[in-house]
Amino acid sequence: MSALSEAAVLDALRVVKDPDLHKDIVTLGFVKNLRLRGGEVAFTIELTTPACPVKDLLRDQAHAVVAALPGVSRVDIEMTAAVRATSPVGGRVPIEGVKNIIAVGAGKGGVGKTTMAVNLAAALARRGSRVGILDGDIYGPNVPIMLGLRTQLQTDGQKILPAEGHGIQAVSVGFLTDDDAPIIWRGPMLHQTIQQFFREVRWDNLDYLIVDMPPGTGDVALSLSQSVAVAGAVLVTTPQTVSVADTRRAVHMYRKLNIPTLGLIENMSHFVCAGCGREADVFGKGGGEALAHELSVPFLGHVPLQERVRSAGDAGHPVVLADPDSAPAVAIMAAAERVAQQVSIASFASRAIPMTEVR
Ligand SMILES: Nc1ncnc2c1ncn2[C@@H]1O[C@H](COP(=O)(O)OP(=O)(O)OP(=O)(O)O)[C@@H](O)[C@H]1O
Ligand SMILES: [Mg+2]
Repeated sequence: MSALSEAAVLDALRVVKDPDLHKDIVTLGFVKNLRLRGGEVAFTIELTTPACPVKDLLRDQAHAVVAALPGVSRVDIEMTAAVRATSPVGGRVPIEGVKNIIAVGAGKGGVGKTTMAVNLAAALARRGSRVGILDGDIYGPNVPIMLGLRTQLQTDGQKILPAEGHGIQAVSVGFLTDDDAPIIWRGPMLHQTIQQFFREVRWDNLDYLIVDMPPGTGDVALSLSQSVAVAGAVLVTTPQTVSVADTRRAVHMYRKLNIPTLGLIENMSHFVCAGCGREADVFGKGGGEALAHELSVPFLGHVPLQERVRSAGDAGHPVVLADPDSAPAVAIMAAAERVAQQVSIASFASRAIPMTEVR
């Protein structure tokens, strides 16, 4: 019987495929730091996001195939992640300190964009990613309230330093007072203000920057798409017909702007009575999911209408952190993982697969 070798371990691992990237984890360069000591095998699997929904599956498969090799007595796998940046297309420039920009928008006002944006940010942070949120709603900035932040932005003399709440870096017009507004925000133009939000903030090494978009398909979306490299948009809709119709328009607008739709979240999809647990379809049923299928965009999940979502948001504690076992929190965590997965796919599509790296 031949002695156990690194090559044998790698060969075995080639059967473990990433279901989204359609390649095996060795070819993808995910297997690192392989060590053999007698029959003991240890290695690291470096995924493209800490919020990977198939993390446990990949670890278990890798463990099983290596453990089955003759001569192996023990397998230790460390799971890590290094988020990759999506490459900018069409002359758009990346933002310093930010790997991936994710816009959270909707065709309609009041469908829960800010609630979803803040909770998606909190969900990604909870999974171990470095996350920021940019409040793109300069007329109705709600991010500070939903993150429980009452502060004023500081500068380091050159750039604006983001505030921080629940481990999330945040910038919002809501953090400005009349006193320092003229110093930090030169000029009243919306476009310029958004530009400053992106370019004059010292974002600290973010995997994901979530942008809470204002309602509709207006100027901020245009400004955003023309100037910065957005990885994609997450669109929030309620199941009702009018919201679905507006969301369809929003998806088409993002398409025109060359911003891929990472997925659709159906928010307020059904009401769950806190007292009796009975469900009611306040805004109808399944409209968002049907639209996702119609437009061939990923469906990210149904988030129920629950009083807890609103009260947690008003209290500045996003429901995914305040009440992680609640149905809305579980749905949003799953949606965040799907978003991270879509961004990983986009980042891989935008660059060549790296050479196999085994150190
Ligand atoms: N799933 C939910 N269950 C209960 N309340 C919710 C849910 N989602 C959002 N809300 C509440 O609905 C209201 C509107 O949500 P939010 O402010 O996030 O919407 P928006 O789309 O950002 O609005 P705008 O268009 O004004 O920016 C808020 O009070 C929020 O707490
Ligand atoms: Mg909002």
